[in-house]
Amino acid sequence: MTDPRTQVVADGYDTIGETFVAWRDRIVGDPRREWEDELTSRLPDGGRVLELGCGAGVPDTQRLAARFRVTGVDISPRQVERARAAVPEAEFVCADFTALELEPGSFDAVVAFYSFNNVPRELLAGLFARIRAWLTPGGLFMTALGTSDTEGWVGEWLGAPMFFSSFPPVTNTRLLREAGFELLRDAVVTFEEPEGPANFQWILGRR
Ligand SMILES: C[S@@+](CC[C@H](N)C(=O)[O-])C[C@H]1O[C@@H](n2cnc3c(N)ncnc32)[C@H](O)[C@@H]1O
Repeated sequence: MTDPRTQVVADGYDTIGETFVAWRDRIVGDPRREWEDELTSRLPDGGRVLELGCGAGVPDTQRLAARFRVTGVDISPRQVERARAAVPEAEFVCADFTALELEPGSFDAVVAFYSFNNVPRELLAGLFARIRAWLTPGGLFMTALGTSDTEGWVGEWLGAPMFFSSFPPVTNTRLLREAGFELLRDAVVTFEEPEGPANFQWILGRR
């Protein structure tokens, strides 16, 4: 049974998928491309990449799928439909990635762009451990984590109820190290969302 907080996220993105993309395209200074390039410069062509919280598959899944064998996971059925249409060459799974069972050692990289701040924060430690297990030895993990000390927030966001949760950076870093990741890069980056400045903690880790 899906956690009710996660169900809010699934229903929310079903409703706001297009609004979210329009909102995201108004962000100024999003560092996702720079971090993605850093990751992909370390991967062989044709490598296996798992994307958690792939949303509608643009632009990241699409770019990744041009070079790698990509599996995208999202809990919102409408987002997965959009992603399948936008990136037919990738494989997609509609599932809660905190409860996903995957073959150990089966991906060269796991990426998650802005999806872990929708996860109840007490699940992050277990999720990081699972991600590490899904990676090949030396495999890479890249993500952008929330930075506020928020156990749980539910409210209206972009026109639908949404759930957010996150730890401060010092806790995120500790949990990643405890899960066994070597942190190659760990930086809090500020950029401008349409409503004002936002901080995310970008991580590039290695199994
Ligand atoms: C803020 S959107 C980001 C979408 C895309 N990665 C991007 O950067 O544009 C977060 C996405 O993560 C998905 N998501 C959040 N929690 C999830 C979970 N537990 N399992 C699967 N998908 C989840 C949501 O459905 C949503 O599509």
